[in-house]
Amino acid sequence: MSAVRDEVGVGAPAAPAGLAGVRVRCMDCGAEHAADRPLTRCPACGGLLDALVPLDRPVRADAFGAGLPAALARSGVWRYRQLLPPLPDAAIVTRGEGNTPLYADDRLAAFAGLAPGHLELKHEGHNPTASFKDRGMTVGVSHARAVGARIVACASTGNTSASLASYAAAAGMPALVLIPEGKISGGKLAQTLAYGARVVQVAGDFDQALRLLRELTDAYDVYLVNSVNPFRLEGQKTIVFELLEQRGWRVPDVIALPGGNLGNTAAFGKALGELLRVGLIDRLPRLAVIQAAGAAPFAAYHAGGWRDYAAVVAETIATAIKIGNPASTPRARRAIEQTLGLVTTVSDDEIMEAKAAIDRAGIGCEPASAASLAGLRRLVAEGAIPPDATAVGILTGHVLKDTEAVIAYHLGDGPDGPRPGANRPLSVAADLPSLERALADALHG
Ligand code: F0G
Repeated sequence: MSAVRDEVGVGAPAAPAGLAGVRVRCMDCGAEHAADRPLTRCPACGGLLDALVPLDRPVRADAFGAGLPAALARSGVWRYRQLLPPLPDAAIVTRGEGNTPLYADDRLAAFAGLAPGHLELKHEGHNPTASFKDRGMTVGVSHARAVGARIVACASTGNTSASLASYAAAAGMPALVLIPEGKISGGKLAQTLAYGARVVQVAGDFDQALRLLRELTDAYDVYLVNSVNPFRLEGQKTIVFELLEQRGWRVPDVIALPGGNLGNTAAFGKALGELLRVGLIDRLPRLAVIQAAGAAPFAAYHAGGWRDYAAVVAETIATAIKIGNPASTPRARRAIEQTLGLVTTVSDDEIMEAKAAIDRAGIGCEPASAASLAGLRRLVAEGAIPPDATAVGILTGHVLKDTEAVIAYHLGDGPDGPRPGANRPLSVAADLPSLERALADALHG
């Protein structure tokens, strides 16, 4: 124990160079702090922190990416440097993240109950490690490098861990990852192992793993990159920047996203507020946060008029958002209030039905991502979103992130036999007549 203490250290490392203008502010007490060390809660009051971005200079949309080193100009995160904290170039660890497609598919618009051309899907599964986490990780790990951190760590439902493992490997830093044992998909575990992080399987759920890790990072000089880290959220803001730039800065009526630990919701609210402030947009879209019904403490908090917050023990097929006590709840509440946002829940069946529709359109996503479309469908059906509204749904992770869910859906039975649209493989003898029958079957569905 004491050997670890000697090696890792318990005090702040020596103040690094190049971080003079990098500061954070507490959302509760307003105290500002120099971010020349790892900070995930306010040293004065324990509140959540926001990274400060210098917005006093004019921001020109046609200048995004200009004057940057080539690797940064190519990154769909760092090209928005004018709207990010001023980290030193030398610390930046990038894998060319972002630059993800914005898809339109009228079958999916119809599925949601929206008019043709009124639904787009921003596919964050097209990031280097196949989820949106890479956008936050490039900034988080770069800040970790800038402050001279020795080791980076996270608790994760799988995507953050895969992303951290990759970016830590890029930076040549060791990474420690806590995952709830047996509760993350095989693909995400495989990525995290392959990229070389030290994986610790905790006998508990995600919420317990994060609590445990925070005890460790409070006691040791270990850099925490969960989304309580304000720099992670700075990178995730660029999902909003990029989708609006792809839309020629035309603001949709609604942006729908899944809510788990609520880091993305918080990041989206901050991004939109900043774009409004610098004049790149002239109105705010409504954020629509969709939680899985079995993991919906934020939806309950919202439905109760923000009066009583209660954590839950989470259960859902969408393991990425199986979170019962979201760490960014106060920031996410701020984002919903600021955008007159919507919060709703969807059942696991609704999630899997929406996922099957997205997959069948050739787009594909992991279960948690499909909550965006399932939630839009529900909100339109309930009349909270009119059918002629324009909406962008965020697909947070790639279809290959959770192949167990795909195989179980298509090959397994539901309570009433095969599930809607189940696509079972044919097994044929190795002769032409058998294959001809398969050909007829493929042609006629
Ligand atoms: N979608 C996917 C695919 C995710 O992996 C997550 C979060 C979310 C949605 C929810 O985003 O937490 O910002 O509200 N995954 C985290 C992880 C918790 O550890 O990978 P959020």
